[in-house]
Amino acid sequence: MASSSPGEREKVTSKLPAQLRARIKVRAAEHSIDIQDAIAHALVRWAQVGALAKVDTSKAPPFSTWLPQGAYEEFKTACSKRGVSYIQGLAQAVELWLTEHPSPQEEHMTTTHPKRRIMANQKGGVGKTALSAGVGQAYAEDPALDGLGLRVLLVDFDPQGHLTTQLGVDPLGLDSDSLVKHMTGEGRGELSSLVVPIEDERFADRLHLLPACADGFVLDVKLSTTRARESALERALEPLEGDYDIIVVDCPPSLGLAMDTAIHYGRRRPEEKAGDSGVVIPVQAEDSSADAFTLLTGQIEDLRQDLRVEIDYLGLVVNMYDGRRGYIATSSLKEWESIGDPAVVAVVPDRKEQREAVRSKQGLLVYDPGCAQSVAMRQIARTLS
Ligand SMILES: Nc1ncnc2c1ncn2[C@@H]1O[C@H](COP(=O)(O)OP(=O)(O)O)[C@@H](O)[C@H]1O
Ligand SMILES: [Mg+2]
Repeated sequence: MASSSPGEREKVTSKLPAQLRARIKVRAAEHSIDIQDAIAHALVRWAQVGALAKVDTSKAPPFSTWLPQGAYEEFKTACSKRGVSYIQGLAQAVELWLTEHPSPQEEHMTTTHPKRRIMANQKGGVGKTALSAGVGQAYAEDPALDGLGLRVLLVDFDPQGHLTTQLGVDPLGLDSDSLVKHMTGEGRGELSSLVVPIEDERFADRLHLLPACADGFVLDVKLSTTRARESALERALEPLEGDYDIIVVDCPPSLGLAMDTAIHYGRRRPEEKAGDSGVVIPVQAEDSSADAFTLLTGQIEDLRQDLRVEIDYLGLVVNMYDGRRGYIATSSLKEWESIGDPAVVAVVPDRKEQREAVRSKQGLLVYDPGCAQSVAMRQIARTLS
């Protein structure tokens, strides 16, 4: 319903649940934004982002507002394209606007969100897991031992479960409750009950692991029918976020839908600064690693555009570097460095201690706290803190 007014706006009448109307009124005032402008912005954002959760609009009373000429027509076209009613679309748009414009008061009261570190590369064997474990330990380690003393959650998001087993933890059984089940709406209990502390006095109780489960092998298939699938990992982990300063996600060696959820989880949230969270890419000083890098950044660019989100690259880690391999190693290191953004934040040497630590099922910083790799992990943690 639209009728013209003398100004540049037209009156629009639809329906909106009373609680949404009350919340956007208060929130717009908190942000010193005119409610009409908030609604206009909400409708534009709604058309940009992907499918959103359904809002109950069954008892929605009539609602009118004034929108810029033509804005409502555009919105209605977007609704029709997506097969969503105008009332449902408006309710989703208001929900989205509220999420993207948190109350400044609440923001002040709640502690900040945990930073997210997404360790990604679809190439296997480049060091995603070694880096997740090592940097996670350095984040949690006692500051008196050169660590950062942060509360850390390691998420084993690779169904192969290497991160889980190398920290001496059993992967979850196929029928057990799991992160993946919480992502696809089949979760049974509290996700926090699956979290296992990694015990060592240097971490006190600060280092926790969410173990892998073999059900992750079918996650891509399940996600293909999950609503608002890109945010599935975020929705599942949200209840745990308050307990941690940093969440490290060890990704699988693939580029499927599961990876999209991990990359999306590292996106810059409205209240975050550039680089607070994002993707860390371990690579090796060799040519095949460069091809994999191009594919991964291509996927990240696609997600950025499709979902209109900011995804920050926190850096490249050139892993398993051995300068004795001569020209191949030194020239490809130079190539990585010449990319500039993402920058090379560390070069980790190829040393036996990493493999020995894996075999002994101990964290690297527990197995050999003084080795060159442990030192490198602490340096990376400080650079990416
Ligand atoms: N800097 C390193 N020096 C020696 N071995 C390493 C190093 N980084 C990783 N590794 C070993 O290389 C193998 C592959 O590393 P991993 O972290 O599992 O890779 P991804 O998770 O990318 O598949 C593992 O056996 C790991 O212990
Ligand atoms: Mg791995």
